Amino acid sequence: MAIQIAPSILAADFTRLGDQIREAETAGAGLIHIDVMDGRFVPNITMGSLVVAAARRSTTLPLDVHLMIVEPDHLLEAFAEAGATTISIHWETCPHLHRTLQAIKALGCKAGVAVNPHTPALLLQEIMHLVDTVIVMTVNPGFGGQSFLPEMLPKVRQIREMAQGRAIDVEVDGGVNTENALACVEAGANVLIAGTSVFNGTFSVAQGIDALRGALESKKPG
Ligand code: DX5
Ligand code: ZN
Repeated sequence: MAIQIAPSILAADFTRLGDQIREAETAGAGLIHIDVMDGRFVPNITMGSLVVAAARRSTTLPLDVHLMIVEPDHLLEAFAEAGATTISIHWETCPHLHRTLQAIKALGCKAGVAVNPHTPALLLQEIMHLVDTVIVMTVNPGFGGQSFLPEMLPKVRQIREMAQGRAIDVEVDGGVNTENALACVEAGANVLIAGTSVFNGTFSVAQGIDALRGALESKKPG
């Protein structure tokens, strides 16, 4: 599968969000990741459907909306109408996950599920056929700039195996950088979500994306 970089705008400069998204698109980003946090499921509040709509006006790239909110069901329609391409909800917030995934699809979006570090892959077994995307959290959700948890790599591998050859997106989210990007891909991830390794004050968005791509090339054949 083609490997895609999904810059997370959580780390972007919000005084010029449209420009930052366009820089990412020009630099070859595959999709734009948008972190919605509610201050309840996670200890931080970020953005809502208004920002998704603004991102929609800034790019034609798919918008990968990651809902870190309790009781997401009543907000799905608002995010779909704002222009989300994929809506991912957290396993930990959905007592009726099967129904919620069906509701996302009924809105015309791709359906994703995200799993916290402590949540086992096997809990997705009965809904795997419904998902287009699985987000493996490689940090505890809530903040950008945290350290990657390498012990999540076996879970990435397990989820790829559970997909049984169906071409779902397996995304890694949190602490992804040039040091661990290749290991994520080797484990079976095809989407690398990257916040601070793409948006930061020390290098450009294009340099950040190029560095991640370069890290994937670093393994020499043979
Ligand atoms: C964490 C978010 C991530 C975050 C990643 O809760 O879901 O998408 O933006 O940021 P970095 O890449 O800086 O860890
Ligand atoms: Zn995220």
